[in-house]
Parts: sequence; C-alpha cells; structure tokens
Amino acid sequence: MNHTLFYPCCGPTDLARAMAGFAHLVDAVHGADPIPGVDRGLRSSWHLEPRRQTPHRFVPELSPRGVTGVRSIASYTIIADSGMRHEYLARRIGRDAAPVPFTWHQYDAIEALNHIGGITVFFFRRDRPEDGEGSSGIRWLDDVLLARVLDKLEPNGLIVTDGAGMNGDAAQAALWKAPAMDDPVGGEFVAFGRSFTCEAVFCRLRRPTLVWRVGG
Ligand SMILES: C[S@@+](CC[C@H](N)C(=O)[O-])C[C@H]1O[C@@H](n2cnc3c(N)ncnc32)[C@H](O)[C@@H]1O
Repeated sequence: MNHTLFYPCCGPTDLARAMAGFAHLVDAVHGADPIPGVDRGLRSSWHLEPRRQTPHRFVPELSPRGVTGVRSIASYTIIADSGMRHEYLARRIGRDAAPVPFTWHQYDAIEALNHIGGITVFFFRRDRPEDGEGSSGIRWLDDVLLARVLDKLEPNGLIVTDGAGMNGDAAQAALWKAPAMDDPVGGEFVAFGRSFTCEAVFCRLRRPTLVWRVGG
C-alpha cells in the first residue's frame, strides 16, 4: 500500500508548499481540485514527467439533504460526474531526493478520496465550509468526512490544517480552535477513538497551520 500525502481542494499554488513540507515522508502525492493549473502551480519547484492521463467518470455522491459534512454534489455546478486523472513522476528541482509519483485528480475531491488508500499526511487549509467565493464548501473536518479520512489515515499519520474556517463544538473542535491559541503545540484531544497531539506549527500564512499526530 502507498503512503500518501493527500491534499483535497488544493488550488493551483498551495500544493507546492505542502509537498515542500511533507513529500519526503510519503511515497505518493495526491492533489484533488477541478480547477485548471494545479500542474502549473508545481512547476516552479518540481519537474513533472507526465506518465498517464485517464478520463475519469463517477457517480456523483448524492447525500441526503441536511447530513452534516457531505454536501449535495448535485447542487454544485462546477462539479460534474467526470474529470481527468493526471499522473506524473515529480522530481524536486535542485534537490537530489528520490522522485515521487504525483496524481492530480482534476475532479471532485470526495471522489478522489474513494480512490486513495493509506494516507500518511492529510493536508487541508485555507478553505471555507460554505460554498461560494471560490471555496469548496466541503466540510472535511466535520464528523462524516473526517471519519472517512481517519479510516484511511495510518496509525501515527498527520493531519495538517488551519481549521479551514470551521466553527462550533465537536470532539475534534481543537482542529479549528487551536490555531487561534498563542502556543498550540503540545495540545491533545481524543476523537473517533484516535488520539490527536499538536506537534508543530507548519507555517503562519494567513492563519497558523498546525501539524497533528494522530495515534492508532
Ligand atoms: C479557497 S480555495 C483554497 C485552495 C487551497 N487550499 C489554497 O490554500 O490555496 C478552494 C479550492 O477548492 C476547489 N474546489 C471547489 N470544489 C471542489 C471539489 N468538489 N473538489 C475539489 N476541489 C474543489 C476550488 O477550485 C478552489 O481551488
């Protein structure tokens, strides 16, 4: 099984920052975003050798209205029932490190998650839980989707997030509350039967992005 870095809703520029920080921990990188240019955004720091391009069709996930965490994809006009899966071999420019397979799922990120196993690093930030103004509206940190991510997150894997605009109380609320703390490092909580420990502040771009180690 691959040990992957998965960055859903990565946009055209931020995946390069995630890869600079965490690609050395994994043996495959997956980014998911239907927006054009995710490959171009990487090219200033990574050489991408194209491997395969595969049209991908899927049945959009139609969740019952009102279920927390998964929006109704049918009401979201950007997302269709198809897209393109782009596979590359990525080499960091100016570094001697081993190349890493990189897949850009140019379609819905929930669909992409269905095709990824063995997540070592889940990276998600600078998004909003509501649709509109360029945000995905995908509530990755809410119960339904976080449980799906945790099912795939390896023991002692990492969740790297700024909380992505979430609010309210939940067992995992520290994921969005701790970034506002002066010193979040060392913070701990238990949710979904897993222990979360804040190990570091990855960076403070816009909002602090924290690194949570998630025990088995
Ligand atoms: C606010 S931007 C954040 C981008 C990135 N996280 C960053 O920090 O630069 C939200 C991104 O979600 C993407 N998006 C919207 N709907 C999506 C979906 N269903 N699946 C994957 N990405 C989606 C948009 O194209 C946009 O690039």
